[in-house]
Parts: sequence; structure tokens; C-alpha cells
Amino acid sequence: NKGNYEHYMQKEIHEQPESLTTTMRGRLIRGGSSKSKTVLLGGLKDHLKTIRRSRRIVFIGCGTSYNAALAARPILEELSGIPVTMEVASDLLDRQGPIYREDTAVFVSQSGETADTLHALEYALENGALCVGITNTVGSAIARNTHCGVHINAGCEIGVASTKAYTSQIVVMAMLALAIGDDTSSSLGRRESIIDGLFDLPNKVREVLKLDQEMKDLAKLLIAEQSLLVFGRGYNYATALEGALKVKEVALMHSEGIIAGEMKHGPLALVDENLPIVVIATHDACFSKQQSVIQQLHARKGRLIVMCSKGDSAAVCPGGSCRVIEVPQVEDCLQPVINVVPLQLLAYHLTVLRGYNVDQPRNLAKSVTTQ
Ligand code: UD1
Ligand code: M6R
Repeated sequence: NKGNYEHYMQKEIHEQPESLTTTMRGRLIRGGSSKSKTVLLGGLKDHLKTIRRSRRIVFIGCGTSYNAALAARPILEELSGIPVTMEVASDLLDRQGPIYREDTAVFVSQSGETADTLHALEYALENGALCVGITNTVGSAIARNTHCGVHINAGCEIGVASTKAYTSQIVVMAMLALAIGDDTSSSLGRRESIIDGLFDLPNKVREVLKLDQEMKDLAKLLIAEQSLLVFGRGYNYATALEGALKVKEVALMHSEGIIAGEMKHGPLALVDENLPIVVIATHDACFSKQQSVIQQLHARKGRLIVMCSKGDSAAVCPGGSCRVIEVPQVEDCLQPVINVVPLQLLAYHLTVLRGYNVDQPRNLAKSVTTQ
């Protein structure tokens, strides 16, 4: 049921304040006296000690689920102190890459049925790793075959383009980081700020959704383009990849997510006055580096669309020479949840304006059950 919406993708983008609320329901605990703020992931509580003892955490997934894990990687590294590595499921299988008994392998999948992810799970089980699932679908193959896990509870997702599952996956992995780090007193203040940020996140998503019309206007400007680059770094490298994936998947426009630190190692050669470039430059520890990226793109007359925190327009775009998307600022590790929303809206409007099928892009299936 699409309710008042024209497409499932549109509905699923707009219901993110509610889906995120459901994802967190009963899992964030604020109040009590001694241990005031904490998280409770019922599916993991008996396994946290084993996870904390592991030598490495390996995230495994495909497409948007991989990107969600990439977005959560920095906070997991920070709060757990355990090395975190990333694997595209098919690539792990192609290489028969090393997975050890001392590893915690985390399988991220909305459907819980993706063939590559499922085969990678079988492979990790054979190699003796502790296998953790992060899935949206209760009773799915990945939920059944992992040792333990967390359901993201985002509600059924129908659009082939994953939107609300992405933001819920990031939130669950941030909660996973909080749960693993729960025994470390030095990070208490940081963890409490993140928990406060999580409580407020649905409101902030509601706020960023107000950019809908602005993104439609931007889509009108970009309707006939051949290509769109998206630059991000740090917490928002994943946002660049995910924004580009949405644009190519539904709007059928070539788009590439680029890690900004690699700009001078190739991508800069593409920059001219015609190619549109989105630069994600919201306020975090990488901000000044992103400012200098913007200056260098500007010096090459790049057509810039800069995403920044509210009030930072002048700091990212001196002289008003670029188009600016201002988004609400949240705790740095939760910012990817906010920043992806305007890009989801942009991909959606581009698709409608270009006249393509929103909910069932050509050649794609919601759940990729063959290899
Ligand atoms: C569970 C109930 C929820 C109830 C809550 C009350 C289910 C599905 N969930 O939620 O309805 O409101 O208790 O405390 O009945 N698991 C995996 N792999 C995965 C995902 C989950 O093995 O990929 C396992 C978990 O380890 C856990 C079980 O499935 O044993 C349920 O997980 P989850 O729904 O996340 O647990 P709760 O949030 O505690
Ligand atoms: O169900 P899964 O999360 O395992 O699916 C993984 C990918 O097939 C999926 O995210 C795909 O990239 C989406 N269509 C992206 O929107």
C-alpha cells in the first residue's frame, strides 16, 4: 500500500523518521541512576564477550548493505578498538579470502537472501568464525544461519532501491559499536552523546526531508546530464558511494562515488565547467580538508553542488559561486543517516523526471538470489 505516495521508493524515503524509530524501539535505554544511558541488543547480549575478544571484525555484504557497513566502520573501530575490515561478498568468495576462528564476521543484508552474502556466510561458518547477521527479514536464510544477530525492524521494503533499510542498518551498526564499547569507561561521554543523538535522529531526518522540493529543483537542472560525481570522505565516503549507487540504479545516469582524498590521483582530470559534482562537506574532523578540495575543484571551474551543515554556506562556498544544500548537523558518526536523504530524494526526482521506472529499475531484482 503506497498510501498518498506515487511510488514505494518515495514512500520509503519519507517514512524514515518512523522506520528509524522502530529500529531503535526498546533498544536505547536512558534513565536509571548509575548507568544512565546504554543500548540493549537482545540478539547479541550473550555474544558480546566473544565479539570483544575477536581479533578482527569483518563486514560482508553487497550493494547498499555494503555501503551501510562502510558508513558504520569508523565508529565501530573507534568504540571497539578492534580492526574492522570490509568485504564485498562476491569478492571474498572469488579470492577465497582468509577468514579465521578468531574473526567476527558480520553479514549485512536487507533481504537476508542475497546469494553471494549467503554463500560467504557458509564459507565463514566452515572457517569457524563467529557469524553475526544484520537483516531486515525475520526468518530469512541469513537470519536463520547466523549464530546471532540483530533485526533492523525497518518494516517491509518494496522499492528495488534500498532507502529506509540503509539508514536503519547504519543505526543498528552504530548501536552495535555502542554495545561492544559498553565496557570501556574512557569512551563513556562519547557514547552518551551518540545515544542522545540517536534519540533525536528521527526529528533530524524529518527536518532534512523538507529539502524535497529543493532536490526536485536540482533534479530539473541535472535532468539531461550524462554523469554525476559525488565526493565524500571519512564518515561520508559511504554516503558518496550510496548516493551514486542510487542515481545510477534508478535514474539510469552514470554516477560515481569518489573518496575525496583520491581526487588528485586521477578524478581531478575529469573536472571541467560541465560535469556536475556533489561534494559532501558537513562539519566533522575532515571539514577543513573538504574545504580545500572545494577550493581546488573551484579553481578548475568545477560545477559544484556542496552539501554542508546549516550555517556553513559561506564557509564552503565563498562568493556564492556554487549551489549549496544545507542539512541539519548531528553527531559525526550519525551524519551519514542525514546526508544520504537529499541524495535519495535527488535520485528519486531524477528518475521521475527522466521517465524511468522508479520501483523496478530495468534489469534489476529486489533480491539477488542467483550468483
Ligand atoms: C526480540 C523479538 C521481538 C521482541 C523482543 C522483546 C523476534 C524476531 N524478535 O527482539 O519481537 O519484541 O525480543 O525483547 O522474535 N538473529 C540472528 N541473525 C540475524 C538476526 C537475528 O541470529 O541476522 C537472532 C538474534 O540473535 C536473536 C533473534 O534472532 O536471538 C531475534 O533477534 P532480534 O529480533 O534482533 O532480537 P530482539 O531485538 O531482542
Ligand atoms: O538484500 P540485500 O541487502 O542483501 O541486497 C543487497 C543488494 O542487492 C542491494 O542493496 C542493492 O544494491 C540495492 N538494489 C541497492 O539499492
